[in-house]
Amino acid sequence: MTEIDIADLKKITEVVKSKYGYDFTNYAMSSFKRRISRILEMNNMSMETLMKKLYDPGFLDDFLNEITVNVTEMFRDPSFWRVLRDDVIPGILLNHQTIRIWHAGCSSGEEVFSMAIMLREMGLLDKVNIIATDLDTNILEKAKKGEYNLKNMELNEKNYIRYQGTSSLKDYFKESNGKAVLDKSLVENVSFRKHDLVKGDVFNKFDLVLCRNVMIYFNQTLQNEVLKNFHESLFKYGYLAIGSKESLIWCEIANKFIIVNNEEKIYKKIKD
Ligand SMILES: C[S@@+](CC[C@H](N)C(=O)[O-])C[C@H]1O[C@@H](n2cnc3c(N)ncnc32)[C@H](O)[C@@H]1O
Repeated sequence: MTEIDIADLKKITEVVKSKYGYDFTNYAMSSFKRRISRILEMNNMSMETLMKKLYDPGFLDDFLNEITVNVTEMFRDPSFWRVLRDDVIPGILLNHQTIRIWHAGCSSGEEVFSMAIMLREMGLLDKVNIIATDLDTNILEKAKKGEYNLKNMELNEKNYIRYQGTSSLKDYFKESNGKAVLDKSLVENVSFRKHDLVKGDVFNKFDLVLCRNVMIYFNQTLQNEVLKNFHESLFKYGYLAIGSKESLIWCEIANKFIIVNNEEKIYKKIKD
């Protein structure tokens, strides 16, 4: 791995922030360093060349693509989806007839399609309003298309079987030109939007916020700020779901939540 010093990382974040408005200052240092090192190696580029390339807006997409890890799956962690279906959604319906959901850091949309499939099987898809956001506009375009590699669908189908859905995942997509094209009617009530969690805009109130496998790339200062925003974005008794390797018990707003399911990292807001 190419060695990178902290002064160079600082220069990179300063250029990207001042020229494009993306602020990676509070991303976890070790993974940010690894991603920069990968960019240098993949493009066979020196640090000096990278610094110059950063002034070329055409290079920004490649840079963002590499810095923001987009790995995702449908029904990722199947047991998590079972808890959503069996406990969380019925819990929301006790208080509200319409379910408002925010997928923060939705990547290429697999999590959103999983949610839509789950809700359709529960007969609730027309009672839901979903906002799916990401920082990366290219990945959002991919999410809107809902077209995935057939190879990836094998893992998605395995996850769906482990989730114990009532149908077959094949019922929700058609094969076309070597791609799996998801049924667009699933995402009629979904609005895909660009949103940067670092900027911290609170734009609505939700019954359920999912931000899974995103904060793992942030340092604690940024995680704390983002979690405060999620608290503000939730109705009282709304639910927050984070990634299996993430936690909120250490953060400023921890006492405003109770743990609903520790294994699946699902929390419920109990105090404003
Ligand atoms: C590893 S994916 C997680 C996808 C999905 N939530 C899951 O668990 O499968 C992380 C996503 O977070 C997005 N992301 C990274 N930094 C972000 C930020 N500051 N604001 C919004 N999204 C961000 C990335 O673009 C990427 O699509």
